[in-house]
Amino acid sequence: MKIPHIKTALPGPKAKAIVERDEKCTAPAYGRVYPLVVKEGRGCVIEDVDGNLFLDFMAGIAVANTGHAHPRVVKAIEEQARKFLHICGSDFYYEPMVELAEKLASLMPGPGGKKVFFTNSGTETVEAAFKLARYHTKRQHVIAFHGAFHGRSMGALSLTASRASHRAHFGPLIPGVHHVPYGFCHRCPYQLKYGSCGMECVNVLEKVLFRHEVRPEEVAAIFVEPVQGEGGYIVPPPEYLPMLQDLCRKYGILLVADEIQTGFGRTGKMFACEHWGIEPDILCAAKGIASGMPLGAMIARDEISTWKDSTHGSTYGGNPVACAAALATIQLLEEGLIDNAAKVGPVLKDKLTALKQSHNSIADVRGLGLMIGVDFEDGDDKPDGKFRDRVMQKAFERGLLLLSCGESTLRFCPPLIVTENEISTAVEIFESAIVDAA
Ligand SMILES: Cc1ncc(COP(=O)(O)O)c(C=O)c1O
Repeated sequence: MKIPHIKTALPGPKAKAIVERDEKCTAPAYGRVYPLVVKEGRGCVIEDVDGNLFLDFMAGIAVANTGHAHPRVVKAIEEQARKFLHICGSDFYYEPMVELAEKLASLMPGPGGKKVFFTNSGTETVEAAFKLARYHTKRQHVIAFHGAFHGRSMGALSLTASRASHRAHFGPLIPGVHHVPYGFCHRCPYQLKYGSCGMECVNVLEKVLFRHEVRPEEVAAIFVEPVQGEGGYIVPPPEYLPMLQDLCRKYGILLVADEIQTGFGRTGKMFACEHWGIEPDILCAAKGIASGMPLGAMIARDEISTWKDSTHGSTYGGNPVACAAALATIQLLEEGLIDNAAKVGPVLKDKLTALKQSHNSIADVRGLGLMIGVDFEDGDDKPDGKFRDRVMQKAFERGLLLLSCGESTLRFCPPLIVTENEISTAVEIFESAIVDAA
């Protein structure tokens, strides 16, 4: 059967009934974008409860990088589940946790030993990095960027600054967090003036923040997403991350790379840092690590892993079933899925870029590997989030699953198994959605 295949109005009758039940009993805090009610997933295809088949180009927010229910990941989960489900890795030992820690330590860019702390999610991983950075340096201040998304628990939320609504009414947040511009989009004033803005943005840190607000000797860490995710799939200019790393080394500040969305092959390399030869002091991972099982990992250089004896822990972090899924996931990535992302990512980007010729609403196409954003603007060259949302709905109605990010961007982050044929189909549907939304 040709995919996608939509045979009911959306939502269909069964989906509608479940959405109605959901509205009565789940927290209204969730921000559902369209009424997709999933029954099953295989590879890049999602079947909803009414039998409609969708092409998935959002992978459960860049998580299902081996495709939905990859048989080898499912097998690893089943085998481990038959042995034991839980014992608590913060207090006891089991081999899958050790094996995964060895593997992650070997994958983190940079020489020397590494130590891994396991969590259940992205936000907890960032919490762990925040705590370790303060604990190790004995410094209180940390720096993050406008547009950054690091999670929603209190510490991570204090670093998050992608949408003011994420933070509204939750304050006071953790003190000592400073935000600076991460203005590398096509609308950045420095970009427009100089063609590249990396140097200017690092200068803001040294010449403005360190001069007027906080001494660098009091700064524990700088948290950065190598490619900004929720902020709009923004790739920094080539000089930016190396300059940021130099700045950190100069003042003894820890460089924390939040690779929660960019990691595990998403950008065509195991970690996005590798595109710039960056060697962070701490690397935060989650999302794609275990193909959808709840797992996160904070990987830190040996020298800074100075916390001991119950200074931090987690009942479920590094759960054996999640670790087994992660080991199978990483094997699949190394056997060819990262190469596939590096190969077909540019194909997707070129096809989307070509649409700019005939659609003035597309302002920018950017990204790395299979992490690609299409940014929309109105007739006055202003970001057009409303049009973006309409395109996303029209794509959904045609059976293509996309997701928004930033002010006016749609992200394309399919499973890394995606084929060139699936990419062609997705781009065709996307174009017809743009036409229909106009
Ligand atoms: C870069 C980044 N950091 C942290 C998080 C938070 O992860 P979680 O939702 O698993 O807490 C996300 C989630 O989108 C993310 O993209």
